[in-house]
Amino acid sequence: MSECSLPENRMPVIRVPARPADQNPGGSIFGGWIMSYVDIAGSIPALARVRGPVVTRAVDSFEFKKPVFVGDLISCYADIVSEGRTSMKVKVEVFAQRMSKGETSCIKVTEAVLTYVAIDENRRPMQLPVK
Ligand SMILES: CC(C)(COP(=O)(O)OP(=O)(O)OC[C@H]1O[C@@H](n2cnc3c(N)ncnc32)[C@H](O)[C@@H]1OP(=O)(O)O)[C@@H](O)C(=O)NCCC(=O)NCCS
Repeated sequence: MSECSLPENRMPVIRVPARPADQNPGGSIFGGWIMSYVDIAGSIPALARVRGPVVTRAVDSFEFKKPVFVGDLISCYADIVSEGRTSMKVKVEVFAQRMSKGETSCIKVTEAVLTYVAIDENRRPMQLPVK
């Protein structure tokens, strides 16, 4: 995998292989499978920031830039890009290592921005804790 260029000095929050059961009839991976991992990945820095429950309030943008195929190893990177009073916008980038096709390339397949809201015990928006 020496030619693969995953982002340097950053740790993925999730890595997972795409399996045959995740395929759509067109032969690539079902978009909803990727969206699910993007939502989970985005919640991780939000949960770490709040140290309590968060919910997904909005998907601000979502782009499937390239297809994912069975056997690809996907790596999700997620970072908080802005904060409001109770909400955080998290950018999620997904890269695929094309392990199935004997390739060593690593390409960005998906990019999204999601909004997470911190909630209290009554499931109402809660101010983000002081850093
Ligand atoms: C999250 C929830 C508690 C927020 O309640 P609400 O009445 O919308 O609260 P508010 O209007 O005060 O908005 C809360 C924050 O979300 C932001 N927000 C509201 N609508 C938004 C939208 N469409 N896009 C982005 N951010 C939005 C607000 O700007 C506010 O952020 P701020 O405090 O940083 O300024 C409520 O909408 C909810 O429970 N939604 C369902 C969540 C869910 O089930 N998600 C799926 C599973 S995790």
